[in-house]
Amino acid sequence: MAIERTFSIIKPDAVAKNHIGAIYNRFETAGLKIIASKMVHLSKEQAEGFYAEHSERPFFGALVAFMTSGPIMVQTLEGENAVLAHREILGATNPAEAAEGTIRADFAESIDENAAHGSDSVASAEREVAYFFSAEELCARTR
Ligand code: PPS
Repeated sequence: MAIERTFSIIKPDAVAKNHIGAIYNRFETAGLKIIASKMVHLSKEQAEGFYAEHSERPFFGALVAFMTSGPIMVQTLEGENAVLAHREILGATNPAEAAEGTIRADFAESIDENAAHGSDSVASAEREVAYFFSAEELCARTR
């Protein structure tokens, strides 16, 4: 089993509803260790940069508006096969399609306000972690 790092966001809807602790509990129950964490309120430029690969999609403006609508929690998670393990507990992008017991099934209302983000590959995770955290901010716990 590979020890990986992945990147997580608890989005403005879930932060506003006070679900931070409940979602952190899901990470820890799944064996994922939080190795860096902070609350940030994204600027429009920061949100556009983070989601740049989706800039041509029709929902891009709505996604940026939502992600800048309030504070978010950003985390780096570490553990065995962390990228896939995290995606599994997140559930499908559309909460209506998310498996029972997943974070999006339990905490999200709709596809445009879907509670949480998780990196979709090790390469994306590296880019996304570096977008928010310096090397000094990452506290290795399983290596
Ligand atoms: S994925 O994982 O890249 O395949 O997901 P994808 O469906 O391509 O969506 C990319 C991100 O855009 C968000 N999204 C939307 N936002 C607003 N409105 C609509 N209709 C919508 N559809 C998708 C989706 O939540 C993804 O954001 P992240 O932060 O990666 O979860």
